[in-house]
Amino acid sequence: MTTSEQSSTPAAEQPQSLAQRGNNRSRQPQNEAFRDFIGSGWGPRPSDLPERNASAPWAAARREALGARFPGERLVLPAGPLKTRNNDCDYRFRPHSAFAHLAGTGTDFEPDAVLVLEPLTAPGEPVADGAPTHEAVLYFRPRASRSSEEFYGNPRYGELWVGVRPSAEEVEAATGIRVAHIDTLGDALAKDAGADGVQLRVIAEADENVTALVDQVREAAGLASGQAASQVDDGLAEAASELRLVKDAWEVDELQKAVDATKAGFDDLIRSIPRATGHWRGERVLEGAFGARAREEGNGLGYDTIAAAGDHANTLHWINNDGAVRSGELVLVDAGVEVDSLYTADVTRTIPVDGCFTEPQRRVYQAVLDAAKAALARANEPGCRFRDVHNAAMAVIAQRVEEWGLLPEGVTAADSLGPEGGYHRRWMIHGTSHHLGLDVHDCAQARREMSMDAELVPGMVFTIEPGLYFRADDLRVPEELRGIGVRIEDDVVVREDGAVEYLTAGVPREADDVEAWVSGLIAD
Ligand code: GLY
Ligand code: MN
Ligand code: MN
Repeated sequence: MTTSEQSSTPAAEQPQSLAQRGNNRSRQPQNEAFRDFIGSGWGPRPSDLPERNASAPWAAARREALGARFPGERLVLPAGPLKTRNNDCDYRFRPHSAFAHLAGTGTDFEPDAVLVLEPLTAPGEPVADGAPTHEAVLYFRPRASRSSEEFYGNPRYGELWVGVRPSAEEVEAATGIRVAHIDTLGDALAKDAGADGVQLRVIAEADENVTALVDQVREAAGLASGQAASQVDDGLAEAASELRLVKDAWEVDELQKAVDATKAGFDDLIRSIPRATGHWRGERVLEGAFGARAREEGNGLGYDTIAAAGDHANTLHWINNDGAVRSGELVLVDAGVEVDSLYTADVTRTIPVDGCFTEPQRRVYQAVLDAAKAALARANEPGCRFRDVHNAAMAVIAQRVEEWGLLPEGVTAADSLGPEGGYHRRWMIHGTSHHLGLDVHDCAQARREMSMDAELVPGMVFTIEPGLYFRADDLRVPEELRGIGVRIEDDVVVREDGAVEYLTAGVPREADDVEAWVSGLIAD
């Protein structure tokens, strides 16, 4: 099915640009009788307004917190446009995470929408204690009437093409945010803008058209432009990212749902192992099994699944998944379901294909598990900083590779952990933890002192994911370890009392439990 062009001029008479050709496989009738016919004879629309989104009060509190950082300024948060895959085919839409966080919307809402936090006070005017600093306005294109040409003739917004679209009233009811037509955005952004008036900041990466519009407004109003404007915008991106470092209770629930759906996906993936071992590209069988569950239970994948059998596990970002799955090997699976609210899990389990670890596989597995346990134990000590979690895992990894005689002659684990060392990192080059939320690597624009160097506080959700990777061609390790790659990745939350707990408690982790999990599901 392709998109269409309307024209009353026969195609042969009208030379087409290249862009038109890719967008012009079908033609629609243009006569008035057709327009009347296609625009009539449809049943009534539901008269009830939708219920308020469960996320709405939480999103309102997040907007208040962000607004308080920028009193008197206009903050522009675009959802972003559809992204072209090729010609007239788009990728499935996913709004920018800052928009989703602050509008409280999830799946499929709403290409080209823009959330604006409109200042309620003049620049520099003090804000009374507890008083709101901004009013939120959601600019979007409400559905057109069925008698409009848009209804049948606009492949991007027409309901005959993209399905039922919401009205302004429906969006207002669902989000609790005042709605305005997207066509009024330009004027709204320009209102009172100026060096002595309202300043603007935009999440610049979200939608280049909106950023260009904000730039135009700033230029016309004599506000910062170029590099200075970028710095202003970076301040908003940073604040929006840091706002997500601490999840509210609603977000933690969504992350738990994502983890639970991910566990179900791993179950399906394990059930598909017998088919995978009989398939020339068994890794794809595993990937597909997880992916089906991700689409059934959620919006989809939070990131591309890694299904890495044997030595492929030693390629950290193995997403080709085009290898065979062989008896006797391990398969490292790193996968996460993104639920409809767009929060994602990020879980890795390393699974013996036959349901039974060999001795060397178990030895490596246990070392990684010990590192994970040390990291969790450290996280539970008062005053633990984000980076201390990594250091605790690294201490175990360094110790094990020393015990196994892998460090250079005369180098101890302590040396390796020191500033001139780092040798153990040959076998675990990545970090142990990252924040998790709407993005798999969440809060990426937060300042270092707010993230890596910060103390853990209630509401933080992050991963613990040590690994050991012995490539098949690694001549520094004994032959029996070559080709073994293990990562164990859990998602944890800091509870109100400071306790750091697994969201992934239900996903088997101990070696014996993993064996029982695999054997049980394969035997079914
Ligand atoms: N799945 C990406 C990561 O673990 O960071
Ligand atoms: Mn991760
Ligand atoms: Mn992962």
